[in-house]
Amino acid sequence: MALRIHTFGLTLLLPVLVNFCGAPPKVKQHYAQHCAACHDIGAGGAPTLKAKTDWKIRRNQDPQDILRAVRKGFVGMPPSGRCTNCSDDDLLALIRFMRDGV
Ligand code: HEC
Repeated sequence: MALRIHTFGLTLLLPVLVNFCGAPPKVKQHYAQHCAACHDIGAGGAPTLKAKTDWKIRRNQDPQDILRAVRKGFVGMPPSGRCTNCSDDDLLALIRFMRDGV
């Protein structure tokens, strides 16, 4: 009986916890849709999600500079990461999520 109550409590609590941890669902959804294919595995030298060493050289860069680079695209990185309908704010949130995990 106690176990059943415990499990029930967890199923109620988990979605709430997931929603309050880390980036907003919209950012995670954009990431999964447009960026994960390359950035999850580091395809073509892409900095991987939250990998601290990959992002070290970019940590002190102005997010606006990174945004400009992302918009334009470079080397293996397609313009806007192929998220053509992402706003600047969307991309800035994605950059923050990828670099800092928030
Ligand atoms: C087709 C593969 C691919 C996709 C899709 C992709 N990227 Fe990239 N990205 C790369 C590669 C490769 C690099 C590293 C390029 C280099 O440094 O030579 C990179 C680098 C970056 C960087 C580092 C910029 C810097 O100043 O060094 C950011 C930020 C970034 N990507 C954001 C994104 C975002 C946001 C998305 C999704 C909206 C995305 N990327 C989708 C391949 C990709």
